[in-house]
Amino acid sequence: MDDFLWWRDGVIYQIYPRSFSDSNGDGLGDLIGIIAHLDYLKDLGIDAIWLSPFQPTPDKDFGYDISNYIDVDPRFGTLADFGRLVDEAHMRGIRIVLDLVLNHTSDQHAWFRESSSNQENSKRDWYIWRDHPNNWQASFGGSAWEYDPVTRQYYLHLFTKEQPDVNWRNREVRKAMLDIFRFWMELGADGFRLDVFNAYFKDPNLPDNPPKFGLRAFDRQRHIHDIDQPEMMPFLNELRSLLDSYPERYAVGETYLATLQKTISYCGNGKLHAAFSFDFTSNDLFFPWNPAWLMNQITRREEAFNGAHIWPTTVMSNHDLSRAASRYSRGKDDAQAKLAMTLLLTLRGTPFLYYGEEIAMRDISLKRGEILDPPGRKYWPIYKGRDGCRSPMQWNDKPFAGFSNIRPWLPVHPNYTQRNVAAQQADPDSMFNFTKNLLNLRKETPALRRGSFIPLKTPHGTLAYIRQTDDQSVLVRMNFSKSQVNIGQPAGDWRAIFTTSEGAQGTLTPYEIQLFFKE
Ligand code: NOJ
Repeated sequence: MDDFLWWRDGVIYQIYPRSFSDSNGDGLGDLIGIIAHLDYLKDLGIDAIWLSPFQPTPDKDFGYDISNYIDVDPRFGTLADFGRLVDEAHMRGIRIVLDLVLNHTSDQHAWFRESSSNQENSKRDWYIWRDHPNNWQASFGGSAWEYDPVTRQYYLHLFTKEQPDVNWRNREVRKAMLDIFRFWMELGADGFRLDVFNAYFKDPNLPDNPPKFGLRAFDRQRHIHDIDQPEMMPFLNELRSLLDSYPERYAVGETYLATLQKTISYCGNGKLHAAFSFDFTSNDLFFPWNPAWLMNQITRREEAFNGAHIWPTTVMSNHDLSRAASRYSRGKDDAQAKLAMTLLLTLRGTPFLYYGEEIAMRDISLKRGEILDPPGRKYWPIYKGRDGCRSPMQWNDKPFAGFSNIRPWLPVHPNYTQRNVAAQQADPDSMFNFTKNLLNLRKETPALRRGSFIPLKTPHGTLAYIRQTDDQSVLVRMNFSKSQVNIGQPAGDWRAIFTTSEGAQGTLTPYEIQLFFKE
């Protein structure tokens, strides 16, 4: 297809920088480590990299508490390293997407230091200060208000108390934020992932949120005053004009607690290019990983996005969630992970592939004393936090999985001696080669990238659909059950182009995946 648009037709690979590759032996991944693996990523077949934050951070929320938006944390490298990363990535046709965490800063950011120095400071209004707290709750637990004994007022923080929320109603703040986008675009960034962007604006009167049924205090309120305020739209408009003043720039928003309709309402002309709808990331304790539930989710999102002419995104894993392979697989087998990967790469929408997903990395499990993630420390053992999905990339079977030559910041999964990139590259049936082959097929097949989506009715335990453009169609059939299913020969002139088993075309062996092509 000659109108290839990288963020719509390509695949975006998320790197959590501190866990990808450590080039300088300090146990933390870094930008040079990423540069060293660009050939690997090129060979895998991805089109862009989304980097979780690498700016200076006191690590109260592992990078999502930023103390300087326009620099690189020395542990991860320098601005010159970032420049090199951009150049080297662009030389390989790979775009760079930055994570911007602008709803809140770190309490160590110069803006907050000033704002909290005295009530008369010129930056006082850059944060949200009040004499009395309302009932709002922080999503990581406890009241969203922290008392500052020095200036004798409370400040708002929707996450940890070390992440004060910025006052987006202040015009100077908005200007400073746009300057940050400009700064990184000038350095060559191609796009941005906006952390909890729909929380930027709060109701100016800060009314209490109304109650609802829920487990934690945070879940027992309807979040109608702390997120999704109408002032977001004019700002998105301004942001989009700025992005459009550079060629092919992109912004994808992380919607926070938003309905599908709300998520879609933030996208389109004069707004964001895309926003995440987390359709497939629920824990299977409540939402069984089966074709009926999946088809329901797929058709629901298809109707919503298609109806609004907005391009969807697809996510199975990220740095906040238990990895898909851990959610759905039992034991060492990767059959479920391959099914999840097939959905990720063949549904309509931009796939976001989380580092390690291509080798079906599993979550690590930590003892209570080893947990680093703030919500995990607070809610253990009910919720063990997000360290599990952030463990070091498993490159090979050498000590520390080839990630580093010293003990990394989080333990390597003990399965690394078998589950690693090098071993899987050598095995034609591995998750790695499965992913790479499917990525290649997607690249060569416009119907898989841009085709419309047609759901099919199939026997119990299976899922099938067609992706179709004017000149070609791909039929995708998957068996989610452990039994062989007689599904019949596909009617018409279909040619098999991809399969996980050598069985007859009219049957699906347990967990089999089949793709057929027709012109
Ligand atoms: C969403 C990010 O994905 C998550 O990692 C972070 O903790 C919160 N936003 C707060 O920034």
